Amino acid sequence: MELTVIGVGQVGAALLRQVDRMQRQLPELIGEPLVVRHGVVRHPHRHRGCPTPTHGYTTDAEAAVLDPAVDLVVELAGGRSWAPLLERVVGRGVPVVTANKELAAWHGPQIRRVARAAGTDVWMEASVGGAIPVLRTLELSWPGYSFQYLAGVLNGTVNFVLEQMAAGQSLSAALAAAQAAGLAEADPEADLSGRDTQRKLAVLMQLAFGVAVSPEDIPTRGIGAVDASQVQRWRRRGYRVKLLAQAWHGAAGVAAVVGPAVVPAAHPLGHLSGAENAVLLSGPDTGDALLMGVGAGGGPTASAVLADIVAAARVRRGHAGLSWCRPIQDNVPWVDHPLAVAWGAENPPGLRRLSPRALDSWRRQEASAEEPLWWWERDAAQVGMPG
Ligand SMILES: NC(=O)c1ccc[n+]([C@@H]2O[C@H](COP(=O)([O-])OP(=O)(O)OC[C@H]3O[C@@H](n4cnc5c(N)ncnc54)[C@H](OP(=O)(O)O)[C@@H]3O)[C@@H](O)[C@H]2O)c1
Repeated sequence: MELTVIGVGQVGAALLRQVDRMQRQLPELIGEPLVVRHGVVRHPHRHRGCPTPTHGYTTDAEAAVLDPAVDLVVELAGGRSWAPLLERVVGRGVPVVTANKELAAWHGPQIRRVARAAGTDVWMEASVGGAIPVLRTLELSWPGYSFQYLAGVLNGTVNFVLEQMAAGQSLSAALAAAQAAGLAEADPEADLSGRDTQRKLAVLMQLAFGVAVSPEDIPTRGIGAVDASQVQRWRRRGYRVKLLAQAWHGAAGVAAVVGPAVVPAAHPLGHLSGAENAVLLSGPDTGDALLMGVGAGGGPTASAVLADIVAAARVRRGHAGLSWCRPIQDNVPWVDHPLAVAWGAENPPGLRRLSPRALDSWRRQEASAEEPLWWWERDAAQVGMPG
């Protein structure tokens, strides 16, 4: 089986090393050798610390992905601009694997529709929660089950920064420490603003609820307004401050928020540190399930990518297997949740009709505007949703 890998950076290089290390096991798993044929990059002559693809590196993405000898395309470059090319790839019946949450959040449902019509699949496990098999669990372990609530801590950089703040550092000093430790991007804006978490929550809502929402419609606050003294105060009282993603789903529609929240230290979500991520899923049939693991880093993320490649290869060879088969509903109604309404006021696209209860909650929150933290409230009944 021959692959084109678009993007051989942190995750891509780790993937090429893992494929090389697993050369003996892979044919046993998929019935044939796995060969990386083309690597698409911006700088073909850069040293990458991994085995070189059999046909080397190129900047010509189109030629590399549409090469008729290529059986599967892996996209590890990031950004939304790959969507049209990947649609063409799946339209030709060639499966795609990606770790790109922006692509998954905005274009996942559409690319999947094209893939399904062409009899192939798009695999996106690594786009949320790094090495945690959360999307596969939703899709394969509970296919079609309805979840009412999900909560996630999905950004390791922010975890690290909040921990440093709990230990007494300012936000800027904590961020500098994260960058020095190689945990934060040179431009950490998407992490600190909550936008990275917002995209991951949109992908989780696709798989847990079967709905497509625009990421920017999710009311979102980052940690910019949180100060170290608040984090320390809550810590002394037995709580942790986490950047929490939450979503509710019921017959009436969906609600979702991303923002800094106070979580009991004794709860597993309160325990997470550094690159650890977790997702709590709650449904009437499944009860509560919590998946935890390493949410970022080249190696762990590449392991999820390779798992997707193996799954796609097995499906291609006729092994039983399903991916992303859940129908995704567009234009699902948003409903009022007090948190979502309150935060939506800062995000005009998220603002909807206020229920009396939401209005009341909004006024209460306004009254304590100097405290930009929210309690962890998971009660789906607040959205007026039948069980
Ligand atoms: N790193 C993580 O921990 C992590 C975790 C989960 C998901 N992800 C996702 O995985 C993807 C890759 O992340 P990464 O950390 O590996 O990124 P990275 O280290 O910045 O690597 C990006 C790679 O893509 C190539 N590239 C970027 N734009 C390109 C273009 N227009 N044409 C050709 N090649 C291009 C770069 O080429 P050059 O090397 O020549 O510049 C580089 O090889 C992203 O979608 C990211 O969100 C990453």
